[in-house]
Amino acid sequence: MPTSKIARLESDRLLAVIFEYMTKITVETDIEKMVMNLADLGKELVSADRCTVWLHEQSEKLLWTVGGHGVQKITIPDDSGLVGYTVRTGKELNIEDAYCDSRFNRTIDEETGYRTDSVLCIPFHNAEGSIIGAFQAINKLTETKIFTDHDLELLKIASNFAGKSLEAFILRNELVETQKEIITTMGEIGESRSQETGFHVKRVAKYSYLLACLSGIPESEALKFKYASPMHDIGKVAIPDSILLKPGKLTEDEFVLMKQHTTIGHNVFKKSKRELLQIASIIANEHHERWDGNGYPKGKKGEDIHIYGRITAVADVFDALGSDRVYKKAWPLEKITTYMAEERGKQFDPRLVDLFLDNLDQFIAIRDEFIDGSDV
Ligand SMILES: [Fe+2]
Ligand SMILES: [Fe+2]
Repeated sequence: MPTSKIARLESDRLLAVIFEYMTKITVETDIEKMVMNLADLGKELVSADRCTVWLHEQSEKLLWTVGGHGVQKITIPDDSGLVGYTVRTGKELNIEDAYCDSRFNRTIDEETGYRTDSVLCIPFHNAEGSIIGAFQAINKLTETKIFTDHDLELLKIASNFAGKSLEAFILRNELVETQKEIITTMGEIGESRSQETGFHVKRVAKYSYLLACLSGIPESEALKFKYASPMHDIGKVAIPDSILLKPGKLTEDEFVLMKQHTTIGHNVFKKSKRELLQIASIIANEHHERWDGNGYPKGKKGEDIHIYGRITAVADVFDALGSDRVYKKAWPLEKITTYMAEERGKQFDPRLVDLFLDNLDQFIAIRDEFIDGSDV
């Protein structure tokens, strides 16, 4: 076959490989899977027997990777072996025989019985140019068993892509984590205003997630619901202390004001385009609606009440009854379950009460994990 045709076949194959992996990697939401996909991309590009993507945790002075599906993270000191050298110096390495190189660390070979011969190591960078990790390809699968300069160039393409994808992933993750933290903190502010201290918001979020999963809501949606759940009482920040902290029964006028915490919370978030805050807006608005239509603020009935509102109602009341409040002492478990069963089809969605009672042990496990006064 003429050389030009071989070259075209080769570039067609490479393009197909790159395209296939780019599509997978850009939509990946799990960093460990992303690392494995990047490693597979590198392996195919340079025809190596093995390829590893190492990430540098500068503060910990560690490099970590994942060995494969279900395999735990592997960590090594960042001054260890050839990859450590690449990460510290930023230099690429193309080594024909690792055992002739004093920088090579034989420990992993000795532990696994694998024999490393040829090695390629290439660092990758974030947008500011700092090294955030490295690609390491081991043992070229051709007769010569040696990586070429062309392989080095190909692995550079992969490492360039790895740097950008991993940085974007880390930033995105950081944003989501920040959002979650702000939401929980705001929720805690709302709760502390009414002296519902301790782990009330955390427990309600966990109960809500569990009940959402039991009721058949897909896990990804249930997770968003869980993150937004701590905001259910955020509107209480606008209710005066004289009402929130009143030990006795509220007067009719005071109760009218108290009920407004639902619409206040709803109004705070309803204009946001952020999905979590949209969900928070629904929960704040509908967590005091009742299945029989006698709730507030709108007196919605049955399935007209959003499932998020119906679930939060069960989770919130279950937790409130089991905790000391300014106006009452915590109820014993038996009294609570009797109440929940009695309110089946009245205050609560009957299907949710059934799921709650059928799986009570799982709810109790959450309650016992987050006991007020402990420092979980
Ligand atoms: Fe509330
Ligand atoms: Fe609450």
